Parts: sequence; structure tokens; C-alpha cells
Amino acid sequence: MDILFVDSPSSSVDIIAVGAFKDNDLTEEAKSLGQAAIERIISSSHFKGRGGDVLLVPAPESMNASHLLLVGLGDKKDIDELAMAKTGARIVNALKRCPGKTLDIRMGSVKANGTDHALSMAHIAHGAHLRSYRFDQYLTKEAAEKKPQLSEVRIVSNDASAVEQAYGPLRAAGEGSLLARHLVNEPANVVNPPRMVEEAKALSKLGVKIEVLGERKMQSLGMNALLGVGRASDHESQLVIMQWNGAGKEDAPVAFVGKGVTFDSGGLSLKPAGAMEEMKMDMGGAGAVIGTMKALAMRKAKVNAIGVMGLVENMVSGDAQRPGDIVKSMSGQTIEVLNTDAEGRLVLADALWYTQDRFKPQIMIDLATLTGAILICLGTDYAGLFSNNDELTQNLLKSGKAVDEKLWHLPTDAFYDKEIDSVVADVRNTHKTRMGPGSITAAKFLERFVNKTPWAHLDIAGAAYASKQQAFGDAGATGYGVRLLDRLVKDHYES
Ligand code: BES
Ligand code: ZN
Ligand code: ZN
Repeated sequence: MDILFVDSPSSSVDIIAVGAFKDNDLTEEAKSLGQAAIERIISSSHFKGRGGDVLLVPAPESMNASHLLLVGLGDKKDIDELAMAKTGARIVNALKRCPGKTLDIRMGSVKANGTDHALSMAHIAHGAHLRSYRFDQYLTKEAAEKKPQLSEVRIVSNDASAVEQAYGPLRAAGEGSLLARHLVNEPANVVNPPRMVEEAKALSKLGVKIEVLGERKMQSLGMNALLGVGRASDHESQLVIMQWNGAGKEDAPVAFVGKGVTFDSGGLSLKPAGAMEEMKMDMGGAGAVIGTMKALAMRKAKVNAIGVMGLVENMVSGDAQRPGDIVKSMSGQTIEVLNTDAEGRLVLADALWYTQDRFKPQIMIDLATLTGAILICLGTDYAGLFSNNDELTQNLLKSGKAVDEKLWHLPTDAFYDKEIDSVVADVRNTHKTRMGPGSITAAKFLERFVNKTPWAHLDIAGAAYASKQQAFGDAGATGYGVRLLDRLVKDHYES
């Protein structure tokens, strides 16, 4: 789907979208398109101009288009950037069964509070872009009429070039987000550690520097916690380091570290068959990291950023890691592996240690589909946030709100720590108490592999994957984390 920015309405177009505020207060564009006709259409419908209302009808003859789409914008005082993006997304969603191919969005008079015309329009484009993604390449027999036909969206405004310019960075964030979504949606027979390495290498054309550490190199560094998880897989475990240098040499980088378990069978602590297939999404943290690096590089962000992905497949074999094994991590700390299904923290233990040790980042954020407990606690609409630093916590909460990738701050008090003390090693990979707070003790485990670096852990086990349609996408992978981190960098860490 192409998005174009134009200064005047097209003379020939299939669909025209115009808006109405709360209580059917028509926008200027709706009025000039045909106030009487639109009011007549609305009067015989349930359309009330609420945010979320959409009404698709055959266009009255005078409008010179095949379809008219009325879009509710809600109360003027509530319209912000996010609302504009959701409007763009709703438009695309409303048209998924419409045969029209070309669309004019005529909403130039609508301005989000706290921003300007160009950015308001750009956010409509951003939402449309995000909502247009479909994971459909394996549907070889899908009927043509089930496939969305929309191929060209034109954002009509009175300053198209300013809108196009404002859209540039949002397009980058969108591309990064869709990359993350796509990699998570792909099944584990396609997205495995070597494929993730290829995906990272593809970013070198954007100026991202890529390094790949294989098993031998990781052995020499002492990364036995990560290596233990991947040892039963036929795919070699990999640590990928991506660097985007957009700021001065002396600026300490921001670092993002992702859990990249391309499939989590549970290992010998095997998962039940019931939901094992979902564990193709267990690389959602790594997906968010590669997506963020793509976004930052595409928009040439003025920041030094490091993206690290710990890539392993947690499988079973005669050489699999056993419950009870003790491994020595790169940090020197030994870990008693009581449950081979609590593997993400083992991967991150070495990836986090390596990242802080080598890069001395100003902040370090890990993203991981770490615990089922976070789903029980927060569901799929919030990710869990754990941190050793108040400023970073506040920055993350703010950015999450701005882009609708929400975070809930959870506690990390010292008393939780004894839950993961082992009697035979330095730390255990599961908590002692049967009904323990699993997401918190997992975060406490990670904290033992972070020194004084301001650090945050985002448990995205719920947020990375949606069982129902979302504002910006169908059910399936959400790309959670990319727009959040991109925004975090933009608002707080760019020079
Ligand atoms: N990848 C899972 C967590 C998960 C669960 C992600 C559901 C997405 C949806 C993780 O590796 C895991 O299995 N965690 C265990 C830890 C337990 C054994 C301490 C869990 O949450 O049950
Ligand atoms: Zn697991
Ligand atoms: Zn896992």
C-alpha cells in the first residue's frame, strides 16, 4: 500500500474519507464535499461521530467516487497524535473488504492538540501504514475478494511537502514495527537463529554495523548460561550485536537487549502440547530490538545505539541441558538450572553482562517474553516494567503512553531476592515458593547480571502477541516495543 501526500483532492478516486466530530459536527472537508447529502446518510444510521464510528456507503453521485467513508473523530479536546494515528488505522481497517483501490483522506482541517498540522496529518499516515500489514503469504487459496484491495492512500492537506517531511521518522518507526511483527508471526521453522542473523545483516545497508558471535566465540567468553539453552538444537546459537552510531564518538550508547528464543519447547522440562505452538513468538524481544535498530537507522537518529540479540532454540535431545545442571555464566556467577523452561533469563544473563561490560551504556533495556505470570498479572494490554532507576522508569512510562505501548511498573524490592538463592550455586533459575511472584523473581534474576548501569526489563510475554484485533493490527504479533523505544530515544536520548 502506497501512501502519498497531495495538496488537493484527486479528480478521480475510488474512495473518499471525511470526518465528523462528536454529535456529527461535520469537518470543513465533509461540509464542502456535500453537507446535505452526508447529513441525510448519517440520519439513517447509528453514526454519531464518536471516535471509533465508521460508516462506509456508496458515494452520492455528486462526489465523483464509488465509496464514501465517514469517520468519527470524537470530542475535539481529546484529539491527540495517538488519536490521529488510530483514525488512520480505522480507515484502513474499515476498507479491508471494499473493492476500491484508491483513497483520498480529506482531513486537513483536523489538528491534534499539542502539535501542528503537518504532524497531525503524518500520524494519520502512520496509523494507516501500521494497520495495512497482513501476515498472509501462506494463504495460497485465499479468495481475491477477501484480500484488501486498497493500494494507494493520499493524504490531502494544504501543505503536502511539510506533511511528507513530518512523516519520514514515523515511516521509519512503522517499518521497524512491522519488521518485528513479521519476524514474530513467522513460524519457528522459518525464523531460527541463522535467519535472525540474516535479518540483522540486512540492516547493514542502512549503516548499522553487525557482528555475530557463534558458539565457539561465546564459549571462549564463558557464556555457558546462554549456550546451555541452545545445546540441544541443530541450529547454532548466536549472539548478534548491532551498532548504530548517529551521535558523537564520546556519547555513551543506549543499549537494547532482546530475548531471542526462536522456539521454546521448554527443553526437558517440556511444555504441554496445548499451547506449545505459541512459542514461536519467544523471540519477540529480539524482534523488538532489531525493529528498533531499523527504525533508528532509517530515520538517522542522533544517538549511539547498541542492539543485542541472544538467539537460541530451546529443544530436546540426548545432549539437552538437564534440570539440576549447574552452569557458570560469563559474569562468573553459577546458576542452578531447576527448570529448563525458565531459559530466557539464562540467555539474558550472558547477553546483559556482555553488553554492559563491553559498551558501558548510559542505559540498558532488555525486552523478553519472559514469564507466563505476566500474562496472568497484566493480560496482553500492558507489558511489565522492572527497573533499578527512577528516571528511566518515568521516561519509559511516558513514551509508552504516547505510542499506546503501555507499561505497568512492578516492584523489585530486595526481599524478593532470597526467592532465587540456591543452596548449591550462586543463584537458581526458578523461585523457591510454589506460588511465587514469577515475573518479579525473573526480573530479580536478571538484576543479578546488571551492575550499576541504569537498567530496565520489559516483560512482553503478554504484549508481544494479541489473540484479537488491535488498534494497529490484526490478531497475532504486535511489534510491541519498537515504537516505544523509538519514541523513548526521540524524547529523551537524542542530541
Ligand atoms: N517463553 C516462556 C514464557 C511465556 C509464556 C511467553 C507464555 C509467552 C507466553 C518462558 O520461557 C517460560 O516458559 N517461563 C516459565 C518460567 C517458569 C518455568 C519458572 C513460565 O512462565 O511458566
Ligand atoms: Zn521457557
Ligand atoms: Zn521462553
